[in-house]
Amino acid sequence: MPASLITGWGKCLPPAVLSNADLESLTDTSDEWITSRSGIKERRISHVETSDLAAVAARHALAAAGRGAEEIDLLLVATCTPDRLVPAAAALVQQKIGAARAAAMDLNAACSGFLYGLAVADQMIHAGSVRRALVIGAEKLHFFLDFTDRATSVLFGDGAGAVVVEAVEGEGGLLAFELGADGTAAEILCVPGSGTEGDPGPERRSRVQMEGPAVFRRAVEAMGDASLRVLEKAGVSLGDVDLLIPHQANLRIIEATARRLGLDGSKVMVNLAAYGNTSAASIPIALAEALEEGRVKPGALLVFAAFGGGLTWAAAAYRWGPRVTPLAASAASLAPVSRSGRELLEPNVRLYGKGV
Ligand code: ACO
Repeated sequence: MPASLITGWGKCLPPAVLSNADLESLTDTSDEWITSRSGIKERRISHVETSDLAAVAARHALAAAGRGAEEIDLLLVATCTPDRLVPAAAALVQQKIGAARAAAMDLNAACSGFLYGLAVADQMIHAGSVRRALVIGAEKLHFFLDFTDRATSVLFGDGAGAVVVEAVEGEGGLLAFELGADGTAAEILCVPGSGTEGDPGPERRSRVQMEGPAVFRRAVEAMGDASLRVLEKAGVSLGDVDLLIPHQANLRIIEATARRLGLDGSKVMVNLAAYGNTSAASIPIALAEALEEGRVKPGALLVFAAFGGGLTWAAAAYRWGPRVTPLAASAASLAPVSRSGRELLEPNVRLYGKGV
């Protein structure tokens, strides 16, 4: 049976930055509080739509894999912030990159979405129905934030990451994965009124609501336990792990998860200071940066772990392939923007209040 290997990777971070200092002008918070409680220093605010971010990340991943878009059989976008409910963001990406042969669908498992998508692609490749898949995590989360709500607005950011997964003769790839959910705790992290359940009112848009401490506790338990179970399923031990690439929600969650696993900090990928929590995009962005920084060696054992709204969780043990450098580079980039992150939030400020 062929292995399903990640052969290309890419990311897209919109250029407009929103710093903690900017947030101080929007809500009752401080750089000191945000840094000490979350590890986040700044995040990106997108001037374009989710599918635009996804398409640029996808082009970089395709170039890294040395593949053309027309060679893709399955295009899967993990997102909870699609441009529209219909068509799927994946269909818009398909059109933008010219992946004319690909089946296209979105998958919403919130922050765990990318790992859910990776598992779907892996299983379809092993079943023989797909040879090459593009799995993208992309979010424009700021659309669903109320920047006067300090409990949520300081944590999230926009971005996209993508991988090409393909059937390759040889060994490695996804050794084991676990996907889980606990819908009984759905209300501790949700966006009420964002679907068919009701009208949020003529003036107020749906926005993220979260019970932070409850999410924190469950995230540490779920990511740690699921990571241990995938290692066991894969028949490898903690000592074999070269790098943990966790969902980038909060530095304290990541550190507590690493402690629960007994993993040294040097074996944990962390980049959330620059981007905040980009939900489904965070793991593929972190993976792309780990590769750029030379932190993934040929044959490395990686563990991915995620947790998000649903509540969902996911973990995967992954044996990296022989190649850790891109085959080619893409010049793809977003349309330029002249406004700052703070300026891009003016519509949000008008909607929710004038800030502090
Ligand atoms: N600035 C200043 N003060 C704040 C802020 C803020 N942005 N937010 C909350 N506070 C205040 C609270 O009001 C509270 O004040 P009080 O003691 O006077 O009542 C105090 O700070 C402590 O609040 P807690 O919520 O208890 O703070 P905690 O240490 O738990 O940190 C945080 C809050 C950062 C939200 C943490 O609980 C957390 O990270 N939880 C997980 C959130 C998360 O990662 N969600 C996403 C994961 S799933 C996904 O990615 C979709």
